[in-house]
Amino acid sequence: MILKKLTFISCFLIFFGSYAQNPFLPEDYLTKDFHKDRREALRAKMPANSVAVFFANPVRNRANDVDYVYHQHPNFYYLTGYKEPHAMVLIFKENQAVDGKLFNEVLFVQERNENAEMWTGKRLGIIGAQDQLGFKVAYNGSDFKSAAIDFSKFDKIFFEEFKNDVRDTNSNADLYDLIKTFKEKVSYNLIYLNDVSNDKIRNEIKNNLDTQFLKKTMTSLREIKTEEELVLLKKAIEISAIGQIEIMKAMHPNMSEAEAQGVHEFVYKKYGAEYEGYPSIVGAGNNGCILHYIDNTKTLIGDNNLILMDLGAEYHGYTADVTRTIPANGKFSPEQKLIYDLVFKAQEAGIKAYTVGTKMSKPHDIVKKIINKGLAELGIINSEKIYHTYFPHGSMHHIGLDVHDPGNYNRFEENMVVTMEPGIYIPNGSDCDEKWWGIGIRIEDDILITKNGPVNLSEKAPRTSEEVEATMKLSSVLDSFILPKLD
Ligand code: GLY
Ligand code: MN
Ligand code: MN
Repeated sequence: MILKKLTFISCFLIFFGSYAQNPFLPEDYLTKDFHKDRREALRAKMPANSVAVFFANPVRNRANDVDYVYHQHPNFYYLTGYKEPHAMVLIFKENQAVDGKLFNEVLFVQERNENAEMWTGKRLGIIGAQDQLGFKVAYNGSDFKSAAIDFSKFDKIFFEEFKNDVRDTNSNADLYDLIKTFKEKVSYNLIYLNDVSNDKIRNEIKNNLDTQFLKKTMTSLREIKTEEELVLLKKAIEISAIGQIEIMKAMHPNMSEAEAQGVHEFVYKKYGAEYEGYPSIVGAGNNGCILHYIDNTKTLIGDNNLILMDLGAEYHGYTADVTRTIPANGKFSPEQKLIYDLVFKAQEAGIKAYTVGTKMSKPHDIVKKIINKGLAELGIINSEKIYHTYFPHGSMHHIGLDVHDPGNYNRFEENMVVTMEPGIYIPNGSDCDEKWWGIGIRIEDDILITKNGPVNLSEKAPRTSEEVEATMKLSSVLDSFILPKLD
């Protein structure tokens, strides 16, 4: 009996011991030193006697008492690592002496709450923010109201303009209240609601409150990736490329768009990617001509159709953005191949121009020229100079914590990661020979800019029409994944 008891206790200890250092929890998150370093980088760009104020993203309601999966504001995550809602952070240029404490940053967090944590999981709280995120000073959000921070003494108060999608909940320390208190403390309403008759006072306040600086400064920081960020971004991209390979192997014309989407997303989960970086785009046939088609409702992809798949895994906050377009039956028709090879040729030429110091507008010019010339040679347009909507979008954007990460789009710099994504879309009914109708092709890769030239981080996913066809011949474990018919 005693032995039994000891065994029971030791099992208990092993259970809790392993819970504390769960070997199955990922350990490759950004470190607290990363976030601290990023706050220092922002502080270095701030002028004397200024404070930067950031708010967490709002919680968005899906229906009744169910909310959408919460996603932190990328700037907030970048600077703090805090993933919970109802929070704000103040970053001061200089040390502040408040209540006998000296600090140059303070994080206001969600309060620990046993009942709430029983439903939605453990909160970090003040101690967690100090231990895990490395903030020397953290308070509960409810303390912001009484915090002895005199905003009137700063020459500049930086924040981002508020959106009106913040709900007031029962709590007095939710995002709604944090923003409301902040507005009161900085006299925001006096200028925005025209609530002061004295122009001189209004102008003084207006000159102190700045909603542009952070947009510009955070863009300059985030458009260049650090080594730590690149590790995560490369993982997100590799996972997404493997998703493309697996669907190429598994694809057959009787599949549905949603099923193809599921294969990608299953691969993401298998590798520990938490989310999709944006709603997955899986469009068969004419649906591939809808640029951001996210319905994915076509139940039968169909024998002679192409299927355009634009999906990206989000791994620990960082998102890939990879597109491949493949023939459902494993072989491009002559028309499909002509268009595919033209898009590929344009993409290759565009990527070559991803070199340090080159104007970021140049690759799109190159790509556009090749596509226009090709479309004219195929007789789809009458002349390469003519206006058309077969290639109606840009060729690139930064990726990172956002799929459309902020960027200045000036010149390429080392450690930027930028997509290259030309496409040709010829919807049914277009003003050309109908043999081209329903062809929608985009090829999108994620390119790292280095001193030694562009590095294609998503090249693992087959790119040429020949490589795609060869990969589609490979067998898939999903070939034998047959579920029973529903009653
Ligand atoms: N997946 C969205 C885009 O390519 O920009
Ligand atoms: Mn893209
Ligand atoms: Mn995309």
